[in-house]
Amino acid sequence: MGLLDMLKRRKVEGTEDLDNTMYLTLREERRISRENRKIMKQYEREKNRKNVPEEEYLTQMRDPSNVVEFDNLHTYFFTDLGTVKSVNGVTFDIPQGKIVGVVGESGCGKSVTSLSLMQLVQAPQGQIVEGSIRYQDINGKCYEITKMPRDKMLEIRGKEISMIFQEPMTSLNPVFKIGEQMDEVVLLHTKGATSESAKARSIEMLNLVGIADVEKVYNSYPHELSGGMRQRVMIAMALSCDPRLIIADEPTTALDVTIQAQILELLRDVKDKINGSIMLITHDLGVIAEMADYVVVMYAGRIIEQGTVREIFHNPKHPYTIGLMKSKPSGDTKDNRLYSIRGQVPNPINMPDYCYFCNRCDYAMNVCWKEYPDIVEFSESHSAACHLYYGEGLEEQKKRRVEVENNGN
Ligand SMILES: Nc1ncnc2c1ncn2[C@@H]1O[C@H](COP(=O)(O)OP(=O)(O)OP(=O)(O)O)[C@@H](O)[C@H]1O
Ligand code: SF4
Ligand SMILES: [Mg+2]
Repeated sequence: MGLLDMLKRRKVEGTEDLDNTMYLTLREERRISRENRKIMKQYEREKNRKNVPEEEYLTQMRDPSNVVEFDNLHTYFFTDLGTVKSVNGVTFDIPQGKIVGVVGESGCGKSVTSLSLMQLVQAPQGQIVEGSIRYQDINGKCYEITKMPRDKMLEIRGKEISMIFQEPMTSLNPVFKIGEQMDEVVLLHTKGATSESAKARSIEMLNLVGIADVEKVYNSYPHELSGGMRQRVMIAMALSCDPRLIIADEPTTALDVTIQAQILELLRDVKDKINGSIMLITHDLGVIAEMADYVVVMYAGRIIEQGTVREIFHNPKHPYTIGLMKSKPSGDTKDNRLYSIRGQVPNPINMPDYCYFCNRCDYAMNVCWKEYPDIVEFSESHSAACHLYYGEGLEEQKKRRVEVENNGN
């Protein structure tokens, strides 16, 4: 039996029914754990293969102007309580030289999507079970990240794709000086680098990110620097090997507003200097409006809307995106209250087969409770998954509008 068949069988026989009651017996938990072990072992065996021929993980981009293409990506966590479908069919592109903002409620799968791209999902529980992630290097060579062996991925991660994390204090090693940590990255990823050339590169990068007393910072420990300085160091480190893509996961959440603005400005500057792309993950719609060219809105492991920043901010289509736009502070709300989206995200272990937003949506119709909506395209770049814009749902909306007009007359 294939892995996907095993997953499907378990959904029917086990977790779904059990999760409706939110209760698992010890026996059932053991059964899930046993099945998980089998599944995880198979995935790990595949990933640990040595001497994998390159043809197995070379591929073609759908559009050669993209650096990364996510295609129907599914990343699951096999826990003893059931399968958490953290990323459940995500498709979007990161074009060369552009900033793609990823927004969505806490737990919607933003970080797991980026970690899947870095092959850093917490294994063995976390596994990419379906879909593809294509990456194109500077020479136009395209790799299928989901099939790449671990040793090969080491050559790309940190060099061509680098990551800036939310909290720099936990990402920097407290017992080594900044300079030592920065030099190590250069030495690891640059062929023929010496300790002198690595130091020169580190100093150059610290200058690039606008640090004034570079020598002093180079010789400091992380705890001797302020939050803003540490974040600058993290950015300098991420840039030191000229990455093609920077993943910034909430890069400014831990910083105060003025430092936040400086860091964002800096990120934009350096992106232009290295002509790289940025995947910018954040809760903050203000940051997205400032920085992004394209926006991807995620909800419960799926993309529910995507488009250019203009399309998403000026013409949001999905009720969740509309709610997000209403909930950002504008300063002109009459009673000084912010709009909040009522209710909660469904249990990630037991996602329904109809629209995940039904229980929170002001527009929900019968059809929304019956099937998950298709993706509707509004322009070449703008699309949303919602019943409001096609078929039975669209007809119902028209009927409602007529009724409202008739009642008004
Ligand atoms: N190691 C793990 N084991 C089990 N579930 C996990 C694990 N890591 C993440 N998840 C689950 O995957 C889902 C997506 O998590 P993720 O960290 O991607 O959310 P996020 O969108 O980045 O949220 P936030 O905005 O809070 O950072 C969540 O439901 C989370 O509980
Ligand atoms: S499909 Fe229905 S419930 Fe889901 S967001 Fe659209 S209108 Fe709301
Ligand atoms: Mg996150």
